Amino acid sequence: MGFLLLRSYLLVLLFSTITFSLMPIVIRAQQTGITRHYKFDIQMANVTRLCRTKSIVTVNGQFPGPKIVAREGDRVVVRVANHVPYNITLHWHGVRQIRSGWADGPAYITQCPIQTGQSFVYDFTIVGQRGTLFWHAHISWLRATLYGPIIILPKLGVPYPFAKPYKEVPIILGEWWEADTEAVISQALQTGGGPNVSDAYTINGLPGPLYNCSAKDTFKLKVKPGRTYLLRMINAALNDELFFAVANHTLTVVDVDALYVKPFDTPTLVIAPGQTTNVLLRTKPTFPNATFFMAARPYVTGRGTFDNTTVAGVLEYTNPRSAFPAKGFNKKLPLYKPILPGLNDTSFVANFTSKLRSLATAQFPANVPQTIDRRFFFTVGLGVSPCPENQTCQGPNGTKFAATMNNVSFALPTTALLQSHFFGQSKDVYTPNFPIIPLMPFNYTGTPPNNTFVSNGTKVLVLPFNTSVELVMQDTSILGAESHPLHLHGFNFFVVGQGFGNYNPATDPSKFNLVDPVERNTVRVPAGGWVAIRFRADNPGVWFMHCHLEVHTSWGLKMAWLVLDGPLPNQKLPPPPSDLPKC
Ligand code: C2O
Repeated sequence: MGFLLLRSYLLVLLFSTITFSLMPIVIRAQQTGITRHYKFDIQMANVTRLCRTKSIVTVNGQFPGPKIVAREGDRVVVRVANHVPYNITLHWHGVRQIRSGWADGPAYITQCPIQTGQSFVYDFTIVGQRGTLFWHAHISWLRATLYGPIIILPKLGVPYPFAKPYKEVPIILGEWWEADTEAVISQALQTGGGPNVSDAYTINGLPGPLYNCSAKDTFKLKVKPGRTYLLRMINAALNDELFFAVANHTLTVVDVDALYVKPFDTPTLVIAPGQTTNVLLRTKPTFPNATFFMAARPYVTGRGTFDNTTVAGVLEYTNPRSAFPAKGFNKKLPLYKPILPGLNDTSFVANFTSKLRSLATAQFPANVPQTIDRRFFFTVGLGVSPCPENQTCQGPNGTKFAATMNNVSFALPTTALLQSHFFGQSKDVYTPNFPIIPLMPFNYTGTPPNNTFVSNGTKVLVLPFNTSVELVMQDTSILGAESHPLHLHGFNFFVVGQGFGNYNPATDPSKFNLVDPVERNTVRVPAGGWVAIRFRADNPGVWFMHCHLEVHTSWGLKMAWLVLDGPLPNQKLPPPPSDLPKC
């Protein structure tokens, strides 16, 4: 009785101090988060893989780098000290950085690099995201070894929208290079040719038993029968989209890019660089008397050479009946290997992608912009630049490879765009004239035009605060149609439509999903196709957008959005932190 009275009393007080005694869980969840401090010392470390030892750039000597763990609503403060002979910046890939654009990290976009001997504190709060993201270096190709997971748990007391897993395991896919990747890309940019490729793929830094001299460097996941494991998958590879599967096990996708999705089952995942996903792995109900490989190999659409190897890890069951739970890999048990799709299985990829849907519930709504202020159409693809005089070039027909959006190959400035913007010193740094449509339209997925030379520039696209944007990105067939995982900093976007061939503005929009499209930060522009995204420009700052295949980014497949301040105080970008590096 007292309880009912109290409840009616509280209902009357709805919207004031409500719910403190009846819903302690909710009230705790509404509290602001805590602050989590990390110290990242960038240092060289010797790491041996495939029987060769290499000095690599690491955080705190760890490879892969340390995990950042936070709850939704927490503030994360990372003090980064650079002790290596390279300029460094770190990016918190997928973190929305609401009004904290100074902490985003892409070199020469939001900050100048942290030079040797210097340090910088990245300070940001995680808002409205839960799942898995990752951090990585955002300068040149240093993210080859400089990366690690960001684990975002729901607010305290808030459950997952699926049964609580028994255990959670980060699975980071990467590339292992025997060569020095900084030398690889600087040489490629010199000659204009395609850069070399990686020597192996890795799971949590380990190439596994399918490579020479590598069996001892195998990732092993020990599991118990009859449990559910949450795999927090990250593709941190430089240049390769990857298929991933666990032999004889089905995976249930529950989250992509730190946003919940409607769960669906799949034998195999496809995950592009820059994408992350949480999947549930249910183990066999009883000890299966077998061992299972988990494996990844690339999904390839380009014409160039690629690393066609396969990384494997081991899913190993603990035998509850064994008096001595097997130490390591029990070679006597039968071993099952997953069957992965063909290297160029675009129909598998299209089918997988079409299953992704936002959860779109009252608690986790899909706030798809329904009215659009600005529409843009960008081509995405390759091209060429002329070979400088007195040089021979190794790109197509003696030219240099380039890559563009709307035929603009983006040139990084020598100072950071965000600083130039904030201090009103943009003259000679960037121009606000990034083309909103191709200047010279052509049959994008048909026979390429004769002239495939690109233009160069540091052009940005300016958006007033809160603009609702629709952007169609169209792959081109110049030098071969190719899939491009496009990543937008500072926002998540809804993937409202996609298709093969040329986008048709007369017929395609009527097929858009404006109800429960998947929301994410990195989307594949399909090889020989297009994708349409929508987002609201509610975050002031300069936001990089680029292909997450590092080779394409290096060739210029990148641009930046400049989102202006809004009228209210909480719609403005605060001034930069005092330790922001100078160029
Ligand atoms: Cu993960 Cu601009 O990148």
